[in-house]
Amino acid sequence: MFHGGDPTAALRRRLAHIVRTAIGRYRALSLDAIRFRGAFRSHDEALRHVRQGELKGYDDDGVSEVSKTLMQEVPLWDYPILYWLKRLSPDIERIIDAGGHIGVKYRAFARYVALDRIDWIVYDLPAQVRAGRAELRPQDSTLSFVERIEDAPPADVLLASGLLPYLDEPFSRLVDRMHQRPRYIPLNKVTTRNGPTVVTLENFRLAEVPYHVRDAREIPDALAALGYDIVDSWTIDSLTHRIDTHPELGLVTYRGYAARLCAP
Ligand SMILES: C[S@@+](CC[C@H](N)C(=O)[O-])C[C@H]1O[C@@H](n2cnc3c(N)ncnc32)[C@H](O)[C@@H]1O
Repeated sequence: MFHGGDPTAALRRRLAHIVRTAIGRYRALSLDAIRFRGAFRSHDEALRHVRQGELKGYDDDGVSEVSKTLMQEVPLWDYPILYWLKRLSPDIERIIDAGGHIGVKYRAFARYVALDRIDWIVYDLPAQVRAGRAELRPQDSTLSFVERIEDAPPADVLLASGLLPYLDEPFSRLVDRMHQRPRYIPLNKVTTRNGPTVVTLENFRLAEVPYHVRDAREIPDALAALGYDIVDSWTIDSLTHRIDTHPELGLVTYRGYAARLCAP
């Protein structure tokens, strides 16, 4: 029995769900050809399903090269972040760039924002920090790296661009580990869905990496609980996709936010 709504539309949705599920399970037969496979309840469960012979996650020297060139460019979806950094730049002295890789966004944004007077600290996993330190150039005079966010001094801005898909702890815990709450938090490429958070595995060819697709409410709720107002938000429609093996779980939508700490 249908409880309200158009029964034909409900039937069509149910059929679409069945067809998508069948397509996803069929795609799972050719794992090398797909980017996202599986839908797991947690980071650890996803890690347990990494295929034998593949590296697990980002913390490996070999993984630093993946997408390195692309990440040092300024694609269209970086412009909201660039806008906020440029707008805030006269008023800030230090940025912590969580998930900053080898300093890719420092290099990409230095052409547009005067970073020579802003202390830019990348917090990342040990393998990326090692690679970043090894690649430091004389012109990267304000760039440095930490392996633990606790080791970074207080900062005005916490930037997390592209970190949230990979972050294996609640975002609020990451912020709580900082010496003090930053005044601003710009976030980009937060992967979300309408429904409970799932963790899939991203295929990096040489590695499989747990990839969090969060309940769309999770980050706005976390920011509010931490005492932040969201002053800007956007979606990156060109990046929208589905999990190849589980298309029935709906669209993965990439979001961005700029949040400001409310006055005490
Ligand atoms: C896709 S890259 C993002 C690079 C860059 N920020 C950008 O926007 O293009 C994701 C980064 O998050 C880092 N990462 C993954 N898990 C992390 C964690 N628990 N703590 C800190 N960094 C992490 C990875 O090592 C990687 O450098």
